[in-house]
Amino acid sequence: MTYSRIAGIGSYLPKNVVSNKDLEKTMDTSDEWIRERTGIKRRHIAADDEYTSTIGLEAARRAMQDAGVGPEDIDLIIVGTCTPDKVFPSTACIVQRQLGVNGGGAMDVNAACSGFIYGLDIANRFIKTGGAKTALVIGAETLSRITNWEDRGTAVLFGDGAGCVVLQASEEPGILATHIHANGEYEELLHVRSGISVAYDKTQAGEAFIEMNGNAVFKRAVATFDNIARETLADLDGELGDIDWFVPHQANMRIIKAAAKKLGMPMERVIATVDEHANTSGASIPLALDQAIREGRIKRGDTLMFAAFGAGFTWGSAMLKY
Ligand code: ACO
Repeated sequence: MTYSRIAGIGSYLPKNVVSNKDLEKTMDTSDEWIRERTGIKRRHIAADDEYTSTIGLEAARRAMQDAGVGPEDIDLIIVGTCTPDKVFPSTACIVQRQLGVNGGGAMDVNAACSGFIYGLDIANRFIKTGGAKTALVIGAETLSRITNWEDRGTAVLFGDGAGCVVLQASEEPGILATHIHANGEYEELLHVRSGISVAYDKTQAGEAFIEMNGNAVFKRAVATFDNIARETLADLDGELGDIDWFVPHQANMRIIKAAAKKLGMPMERVIATVDEHANTSGASIPLALDQAIREGRIKRGDTLMFAAFGAGFTWGSAMLKY
């Protein structure tokens, strides 16, 4: 049986760090409020000349080095992002060119905060059916470009960053199960009002910002993390005890703790990096994973559960052997 296995991982964070104290200087908020409600202490913000492709590229280079693969090995690139460089070409094509990769497919997947899991699900299916042998799955975002810095209710929550895994065909177990879902009914609870085709108002040119009903999103996110994790376990006839590490989308510490509690997962087995990175949407899971691996917490052979939830609403999960 062919599995797809994580052969390497890398991540990248912009150098510019903005702390809660820094935000206090520009908006009516406080370090205490942000920490209490979200667990966030700081976030990285891309420089003016850093784009989603720039930071995604650096994460990809690091992941390829970790896996010991070169551009000639890559036959699929998927970038999970809701902040692509341009309308087209896709950020994946821009990254492909910079890496010197040629010929294989390259595409962006927009599933908001679930983008990395969607990408993982797609790449896994390609590899299992022989459509690709070595894929890059990148989660990369420059959310600062769609953040309304005058809206304290959302501005304090988000950050920029990128993470990448190299997925390779292997006889050894890797990804055991993935699930992705969506329900478009709740569009207005978390969205960017203005885009390319819809509601483009000339008086607001260049102003496409995240708008959110925080309370409603919070409740939905907690319930969904629980459901998706249980769905994946049931699919494998598995139990919670089989999971060494739960790596959820890093939206907010309160959401992560509430989801872990509902799931009966002790926090000692939950990876949380939202304090350092804030919510980096599609980048948050590979960023958290890379940090936990580099710190020696997650080791080869461990069983991992990823779960994500984001605008759409979209949600998804993956269970795998690292
Ligand atoms: N600093 C200080 N005060 C603030 C701030 C801020 N940054 N933001 C809001 N407030 C104020 C509000 O104005 C309000 O004041 P009022 O009582 O005088 O009206 C008060 O704080 C409480 O506001 P709420 O919105 O009710 O605060 P809540 O406890 O719900 O926390 C939060 C808000 C943190 C956004 C919470 O709803 C949340 O975490 N929601 C989840 C949303 C999320 O993480 N989304 C990310 C994208 S989706 C995803 O990735 C899963």
